[in-house]
Amino acid sequence: MTLQFRPLHPDFGAEASGLDLTQPLGAAQVAEVVAAMDRFGILLFRGQPLTPDQQMAFTRHFGPLDLGFRRVKNAPGSAQPHRFAYDELADISNVEADGSVARRESRKIVSNIANQLWHADSSFQRPRAAYSMLHAVVLPSWGGNTEYADMRNAWDRLDARTQAMLRPLVAEHFALHSRFLLGDDGYTPAQIAAIPPAKWPIVQRHSGSGREHLYIGAHARAIDGMVLAEARMLLADLLEHATHPDHVYRHQWQVGDLLIWDNRCTLHRGRAYDLSERRELRRSTTLDAESEHRFLPEEALQAA
Ligand SMILES: [Fe+2]
Repeated sequence: MTLQFRPLHPDFGAEASGLDLTQPLGAAQVAEVVAAMDRFGILLFRGQPLTPDQQMAFTRHFGPLDLGFRRVKNAPGSAQPHRFAYDELADISNVEADGSVARRESRKIVSNIANQLWHADSSFQRPRAAYSMLHAVVLPSWGGNTEYADMRNAWDRLDARTQAMLRPLVAEHFALHSRFLLGDDGYTPAQIAAIPPAKWPIVQRHSGSGREHLYIGAHARAIDGMVLAEARMLLADLLEHATHPDHVYRHQWQVGDLLIWDNRCTLHRGRAYDLSERRELRRSTTLDAESEHRFLPEEALQAA
């Protein structure tokens, strides 16, 4: 065993030590990280001063890379400048391509505010995301925490009748739904069409741990066969249940942190910070390749 663990929260999460992420990993080390992710849902590595190249190399150990919301930003006729050499490295910052701190009215700031709603990265696409890896480079003096909740724990805390009611349900997720909720609707037809909606069962079994969990979040906008108002209220109620403050891990960032979370069985949200201060984090994300052919709505309905 290479890794040692310290719990982050009674429900889930661990700080891991014993691994230098700037160096290539062997197969046994990769397997150890995957096993820890299956157990804990989120893993924190402190003191890892990763360059973009090193972060991308580390991420590639765990699967193909996800482009995610970048496909909206890169839609024909609207490509926005990107600060990194890799399209797959998301710029979680308030910094413009020229290096200046962005004005709060800028498209970049406005679009990123939706990250403060509880969500799973890239749940709006098929295949969806598996791991997100967020690396802290520059931090503001106030705010900007990231919060996490474990959806396996949330499932376990539901009563049996609610669980039975939820099992057959399939939700539709859309990339711009959370933006629209905030009144951020300045997207072109090409951007709106860039990522078609994806459907996922609300209840799934996490293949790594074998545990059942909820799969919800701010990208979910409807439930198949359910009146829209009832569906949105149910999704809101589930989100409130799943993110009860007693069951949330609040991460206070330190420069050099790399935090990995499994989007399949956790939700997260960013928190507000002073937008006049520079904040720079870099996110790389892996695709959940098996999800391309798993959880198709027809299959979910048959299993119900
Ligand atoms: Fe996110």
